[in-house]
Amino acid sequence: MTPPDPDPAATALRFPPGFHWGAATSAYQIEGAATEDGRTRSIWDTFCRTPGKVHRGDTGDVAVDHYRRSREDVRLMAELGLTAYRFSIAWPRVRPTGSGPASQRGLDFYRRLADDLLAAGITPVATLYHWDLPQELEDAGGWPERRTAEHFAAYAALAGEALGDRVTEWTTLNEPWCSAFLGYGSGVHAPGRTDPVAALRAAHHLNLGHGLAVSALRSVLPADARVSVSLNLHALRPLTPSAADRDAVRRIDAVGNRVFLGPMLDGGYPEDLLADTAHLTDWSFVRPGDPAAIRRRLDWLGVNYYTPTVVSTAPEGTDPVRADGHGASSASPWPGADRVGFHQAPGGRTAMGWAVDPSGLYELLTALARSHPELPLVVTENGAAYPDAPGPDGAVDDPDRAAFVHAHLVAVHRAIADGADVRGYFLWSLLDNFEWAYGYAKRFGLVHVDLRTLARTPKSSARWYAAVARTGVLHRPGPA
Ligand code: FCB
Repeated sequence: MTPPDPDPAATALRFPPGFHWGAATSAYQIEGAATEDGRTRSIWDTFCRTPGKVHRGDTGDVAVDHYRRSREDVRLMAELGLTAYRFSIAWPRVRPTGSGPASQRGLDFYRRLADDLLAAGITPVATLYHWDLPQELEDAGGWPERRTAEHFAAYAALAGEALGDRVTEWTTLNEPWCSAFLGYGSGVHAPGRTDPVAALRAAHHLNLGHGLAVSALRSVLPADARVSVSLNLHALRPLTPSAADRDAVRRIDAVGNRVFLGPMLDGGYPEDLLADTAHLTDWSFVRPGDPAAIRRRLDWLGVNYYTPTVVSTAPEGTDPVRADGHGASSASPWPGADRVGFHQAPGGRTAMGWAVDPSGLYELLTALARSHPELPLVVTENGAAYPDAPGPDGAVDDPDRAAFVHAHLVAVHRAIADGADVRGYFLWSLLDNFEWAYGYAKRFGLVHVDLRTLARTPKSSARWYAAVARTGVLHRPGPA
């Protein structure tokens, strides 16, 4: 291990040649045009219309109108020197109702987006599922049901066939932990169910959907296409070094991380996860052929990271503290970990209330490099919300965001120096957008969006990030 640089911020850090400098978005958060060109409803369209679920009743109906403004947005990306762009394909836009015929108009939107990106020298990175399950499939049972995994694989094949001549980088799922455990466990995300067994079944069928989709993509894509998945792995810390708090880390690692890493990379569910959840389910929904179907070769692994997670075991007779940063709900998103308490990590906070701590990213990348040295890594999301507002001259100065990104890129650089094969970094997000249950109240963009006029204004962090992307050399952000 390299000893930590006494002041890494003072040094210009050079990233490896070919390292990808990107930004990320997702369909429901930016596209709008919710009923255009044959798109049908997703579980998020329904959830937004359920009273009390989303801040102020905000919806993605218009979002930031990217469906109509994609050309302008690609021009912005080119101005920012991005070499790659991670977006998601809306399943209900390209295969309305989830299992019906393909929509050519929906597919044409992504074909044109990919063409515009390629013409601007930007590599398109397509995610197949960023949480917008077609409502019809939820009505038929959603992710807790096996059929949903099969429908997902069929949709993956359809998207791969339509776009594989121009998109070579593919990701199956974005953050299946959120889909399973926030969607079906705590209910703070769509579809808003609060059933721990449904959440575990959903996790398994997301794993299965991933594996089947990898196989489906490989059967239709050219041999040089690359396939991956993006996980929001939890960087865990015990509140104290006690055995009880270390057991809390083990439990959350099982139901937060290894529930996906185990089957996707190592061929099965961890024994301790099965034991921790044995009072809820016997896992008989896992069929004999499933482990092999799920564990498919990946070309890289996407890591999404925002903040570390500090846990303890609450003493008998007391209520565990529930500040896990995933929104307020009386139901837990952590089946089998009822006694685990969640605590604020020390340090400054973003507008989400998440502690700023880049060491968690370093730890995740280096731990994965040790456990799976052959697997290239990509940071597919990292970023911060701050209450950015234009000044009197219309400029948006966001020094906190640049400092956040700088500190996390120093951590990525250190992980690379210590042997992690990290190939790229995607900042969340390109544009201010619809932040799920928080509606439009949280701004994550490099580019400010006026929610009334939808006008785009690159923030000062965007100019700083552009200089990093153009040179591959990381400098400390200066005053605007
Ligand atoms: C991640 C999501 C992304 C965005 C960021 C802030 O969990 O993948 O859509 O909401 O958090």
